Amino acid sequence: MKKHRTVAIVLAAGLGTRMGSTLPKVLHPLGGRPMLLQLFETLSNVQPDTTVLVTGPDMGPVSGVVANHKLKPNVVIQEERLGTGHAVTVARNFFEGNTGTVLVVYGDTPLLTVPTMQSLMSVRQSNENPAVVVLGFRPSEAGEYGRLILDNHGSLQKIVEAKDASSEELNQLLCNSGIMAIDATLLPFLLDQLKNDNAKGEYYLTDIVELAILEGRSCAVLEGDENEVMGINSKVDLAAAEGILQKRYRQRAMNSGVTLLDPSTVFFSWDTNLGRNVSIGPNVYFGQGVTVDDDVEIHSFSHLEGTKVYSGAVIGPFARLRPGTDIGRDAHIGNFVEIKNSVISSGAKANHLSYIGDAKVGQNANIGAGTITCNYDGQKKSMTEIGAGAFIGSNTSLVAPVKVGVGAVTGAGSVITKDVEDDALAVTRGSQNVVPGWASRRQKPKGND
Ligand code: UD1
Ligand code: MG
Repeated sequence: MKKHRTVAIVLAAGLGTRMGSTLPKVLHPLGGRPMLLQLFETLSNVQPDTTVLVTGPDMGPVSGVVANHKLKPNVVIQEERLGTGHAVTVARNFFEGNTGTVLVVYGDTPLLTVPTMQSLMSVRQSNENPAVVVLGFRPSEAGEYGRLILDNHGSLQKIVEAKDASSEELNQLLCNSGIMAIDATLLPFLLDQLKNDNAKGEYYLTDIVELAILEGRSCAVLEGDENEVMGINSKVDLAAAEGILQKRYRQRAMNSGVTLLDPSTVFFSWDTNLGRNVSIGPNVYFGQGVTVDDDVEIHSFSHLEGTKVYSGAVIGPFARLRPGTDIGRDAHIGNFVEIKNSVISSGAKANHLSYIGDAKVGQNANIGAGTITCNYDGQKKSMTEIGAGAFIGSNTSLVAPVKVGVGAVTGAGSVITKDVEDDALAVTRGSQNVVPGWASRRQKPKGND
């Protein structure tokens, strides 16, 4: 018995030579993760029954990136890149004999949104039962995109690749995004008829539209937004796509109640997680793995990555929070403070010019300006522990491994190499010599009268 199902095919066998990079194109990051994962995330929302990734030979890293994805993609290798139609053909085992829909998406077109994918699927599943539904768009520059040729009733007749198009066809501004939802029952039959007698000598998937019409079936176009269907072929495109994605992230943050003082200068990652009543100043960067609880203020020029910030904390300006960092409730981290792999407990303060690495800082402890945890001896990293309520004097060097006890104090300028017990004062600087009247007695420079 035939099964009615949705099979998603992700085409990603292209070399992406125009990226000028040794990294396969679909692994270039967008929002801090490979663009292919961005697409997979969207795809998982339409819940395909089967997902197939078509990659090329020697592209192991590409399948590796999605190997553990919840869509559990089947990977097929297109040994020779003979065109988009050929690429779908190498995946035919996964849809041959099925009813339902084959959804073709491109690995280098990762900005598609869930509603658009859902609309495409619902046009395909409508009563008209179109054989092919193509996601079209009107780009600012039609350039090399395939042109969608409609009849007088606005119904799709064929797709012509730019290189094969007449000048009249090139004037068509409605273009092919490449994304299609296709009747799975008919697709194998259409693929069997593809020819490569065209300008590129490739088996074009786009030819299936004309072939379906010849079979007496209808084809439809759904018009989408250029911001969703732009293909990434160069580093210029990559930057443009990042800009589009960042705009979406900013909108999402503001819609969830985050205040952005200058939205266009704030950069998020795909997984940035922000609570309510968070305020973010200009030029703040969120790398991967940042969670910020409610009522946090992040001032300008702060850079956060792999960090959890608890509610009421104040960060920056000019703070750098690196992976493995926890900033406790109501803690204050000020300018030119770098923190890595450290827990800063609630109410603690490090307001100026510090490096805190591999450390635990107790509740309400105060880290003076210029404090450095000397966590690396050239061979290994060691921990610094600072007790609750401790006061670390300005310009203290804490040579790890070392502990400063609860409520203990270090004198300014000290180099602390041994543990300091609770409630103690540790001072290691040289004592101050004072010579009264020395300054006026010192010899005046010659020739100065
Ligand atoms: C394709 C469409 C064009 C459309 C454009 C949108 C065809 C014939 N043309 O052209 O109408 O306007 O996309 O961006 O479909 N790929 C393979 N194996 C291959 C060839 C391509 O996996 O043998 C993959 C690529 O990795 C890429 C996608 O298919 O993800 C599109 O291929 P590409 O060569 O970029 O097609 P375009 O010439 O841009
Ligand atoms: Mg392309």
